[in-house]
Amino acid sequence: MKYKSQSVAWYFFAVSMLLFSLQIIYGFIMAFAHMGYDVLHPVIAFNTARAVHTNLLVMWLLSGFMGAAYYIIPEECEQELISPKLAFLQLGAFVAVGVTAIIGFHFNWWEGRKFLEIPRPLDYLVVVDVLLFIYLIGGTIVKSKKKTTTAMVLFFGLFTAALLYLPGMIPTVNQTMDSYWRWWVVHLWVEGVWELIMGGILSFLLIKITGVDREIIEKWLYVIVGFTFLSGILGTGHHYYYIGTPKYWLWIGGFFSALEPIAFLGMAIYAIAMMRKGGKQITNSTAILWTIGCSVMSFVGAGFLGFAHTLPSVNMYTHGTLVTAMHGHMAFWGAYAMIVLSIITYALPNMTGRNLQDSKMNVFAFWASNIGMVFMTIAFGIAGVAQVYLERKMGIDFLSVQKEIEVHFIGLTLAATIFTLGAGAFIWNFIRFGLPKAEAK
Ligand code: HEM
Ligand code: HEM
Ligand SMILES: [Fe+2]
Repeated sequence: MKYKSQSVAWYFFAVSMLLFSLQIIYGFIMAFAHMGYDVLHPVIAFNTARAVHTNLLVMWLLSGFMGAAYYIIPEECEQELISPKLAFLQLGAFVAVGVTAIIGFHFNWWEGRKFLEIPRPLDYLVVVDVLLFIYLIGGTIVKSKKKTTTAMVLFFGLFTAALLYLPGMIPTVNQTMDSYWRWWVVHLWVEGVWELIMGGILSFLLIKITGVDREIIEKWLYVIVGFTFLSGILGTGHHYYYIGTPKYWLWIGGFFSALEPIAFLGMAIYAIAMMRKGGKQITNSTAILWTIGCSVMSFVGAGFLGFAHTLPSVNMYTHGTLVTAMHGHMAFWGAYAMIVLSIITYALPNMTGRNLQDSKMNVFAFWASNIGMVFMTIAFGIAGVAQVYLERKMGIDFLSVQKEIEVHFIGLTLAATIFTLGAGAFIWNFIRFGLPKAEAK
């Protein structure tokens, strides 16, 4: 570690790993329910498991992003964090709010809006916590003399992500309005400002791993940010097709969202090209695997599979089916889970002074989790297409169709088991690295 305060990041990463493992458990609860074994129903109903699964996902990714920022910003700005103590307080509060929300879901204390289930009183606490985080990162940048493009893109992504939490809190009793604002959060996060966070972390990793000139890497970062905004903002319209908003969204949403894959394709080409250009001696080849893997898998999951259902004529049939779950899994995994796992893989040896990054277990973690995820995506896809035909084309009712497609969840469970072996190996390796050491390089 170049700066002592970077060790704060380790604790955020550790929380991430814990929440990731819990998320997987709730995934299995749902997979079994889909196979017809909804044995936990009286204690953990499907809707509870779903809300817990997705909210834990968002929480562990946010914790990972915050950890990444606490690691990257001091190094980029050549400046210790302004207050590591407050950063620990911020982590403690984040965990307390998250745990309360998750427990609350089990007692039906929730808002029932997909991805924004956190009850309103807790939303305010989230806002306070995020403000503190932004203050700590922003304050560090302001105090330092060096302001790199990478640091600024990362900060801007985090800052706008915090701002975009607010539309989800606009009070309304109108279903259309509620849906309208919900998408500002959900869509403009994952297909807008989170891409800046991903781009910032990717740029940092490429600078460190490849040794290519910062100017070249950062120039391309601007191009990617440009493409993201060009397509992603109006691309929000692909969620406004049939929710009661004006018809012009069919055109706007269809056209601009169809351009969104370009930003992800750009990131994949960017990462591969920089890696080829770089001649730096490789000391952490597993971090390279994760970084390149992230750029490729995010293009497939978000770009390619997003495009697959983004046109209004397709979305009319696939909306809200398991086709969405197919895309949701690989997109979230490829883009945001993998970028968090990339920065962890890069940072751990520097934080702990131990060199376990290229251990067999870590390489296995990469391949098993990714192969597992590819097969999970295929299983969701087959179930989803079957569901679309039976339910939407043939008009068979929802529950009868769910019964018909139970068989596909056997495949999903097998694939998820391979995925879990990989995820488990990653977490086990994380534990083997041990605690951060101040004197580590
Ligand atoms: C990393 C980036 C992305 C992530 C993490 C992601 C994830 C998700 C998730 C979780 C949903 C379900 C949301 C909900 O119903 O509340 C969703 C929906 C959707 N996504 Fe993405 N997505 C990404 C990028 C894209 C891109 C680039 C496209 C288009 C090219 C796209 C097209 C869609 C469409 C059309 C839906 C609506 C599906 C429906 O009507 O049920 N996504 N996405
Ligand atoms: C062992 C692993 C996992 C299993 C068995 C699993 C299973 C499931 C199931 C059954 C659903 C509900 C689908 C439905 O609505 O009927 C779901 C939803 C979801 N899961 Fe997973 N999951 C796993 C891991 C993950 C991971 C690692 C991620 C992200 C990186 C993820 C992201 C999501 C998302 C975003 C949704 C909501 C999709 C939507 O909006 O349609 N899951 N998962
Ligand atoms: Fe979207």
